[in-house]
Amino acid sequence: MEETFEGEKIIRILGIETSCDETAASVLENGNQVLSNIVASQADLHARFGGIFPEVASREHIKTIYSVVEQALNDAHVDIREIDAIAVTRGPGLAGSLVVGMNMAKGLSLASGIPIIGINHLEGHLYSAWIPQENPDYQEPQFPTVALIVSGGHSSLILMKDHLTYTQLGRTLDDAAGEAFDKVARLLDLPYPGGPSIQKAAETGNVHAFNFPRAWLEDSYNFSFSGLKTAVLRTIQELHADGRPVSVENIAASFQQAVVDVLFTKTVQAARQFEAKDIIVAGGVSANRALRKAFFDQTEFRMHIPPLKLCTDNAVMIATAGHYRFINGFRDDLDMDVLPNWELAEPA
Ligand code: KG4
Ligand code: ZN
Repeated sequence: MEETFEGEKIIRILGIETSCDETAASVLENGNQVLSNIVASQADLHARFGGIFPEVASREHIKTIYSVVEQALNDAHVDIREIDAIAVTRGPGLAGSLVVGMNMAKGLSLASGIPIIGINHLEGHLYSAWIPQENPDYQEPQFPTVALIVSGGHSSLILMKDHLTYTQLGRTLDDAAGEAFDKVARLLDLPYPGGPSIQKAAETGNVHAFNFPRAWLEDSYNFSFSGLKTAVLRTIQELHADGRPVSVENIAASFQQAVVDVLFTKTVQAARQFEAKDIIVAGGVSANRALRKAFFDQTEFRMHIPPLKLCTDNAVMIATAGHYRFINGFRDDLDMDVLPNWELAEPA
């Protein structure tokens, strides 16, 4: 660990993320200064296929990982020897993609003697709430915090009573929220990834045009989005059968509102029950404008939603989670394996 002239310790973490279709690396100083943030997205490649093919994703990671990490170090103006730990996404995610980041981290660790720390990707999304970026009004989340993590692979409600401690309040029983956006976009012939496409189409649509179902699943904080997806499919089929026009904008707006209603209502209910001070919303779907507006418009709880560029997958969030693990003494061995189905928390 380096010291300043005043004797203060400087901690630098190199974050590496390859769990899905972004190859990303970042250098973070003292847990809050982003020295670099490199994200090479494969979205254009996968858009051609309408979704992610795991083998295509892992081969693309192999091609880009070295230059992404090199650029992250260069942009940060630090040498690998000035790094204190390498935080790498260990899971959940696509096995073949995770392995690429993990092997890069192990290679660097072996060559330099710098410790590695395996990070749960969802913990990374959560820790994006601890990145102040350029926000002058930034305040750290206060515990207890209720966190909604909504991504392409997960929809979870988590209770955080302290750093690095998680209780699962609820999860999706079928499709993740982002997956529902992606699947409904496909039904509407909108391009991949579905979330941004639906959001754009919804801008000129009427949220009341269709009364799509909300799965409240009473007395639980679980989610279910497959019924909603099927309802959209049936509506499209009925409109076609009747020879009526399919308003992509109205369907997108009504669908998006149904998702936002459920995510918002359940999260606020959980925050009340567990007397949370703050709410965190993170993961790719937290980029959704309607979802952000619903949360930012309420005044009962203080909100933490990452800036747009940190909502979708990146390595700043992995480095931030790594920083908190590093200062709490966590280190992993070089024989650590990836965990494609790693759960962040046990159910309450
Ligand atoms: O967190 P993320 O980048 O990757 C995973 O960990 O899965 O999330 C990707 C998901 C995709 O399903 C994408 O459609 C969704 O986030 N997404 C959005 C928006 N931007 C990305 N969903 C709704 N509205 C958005 N603006
Ligand atoms: Zn993610």
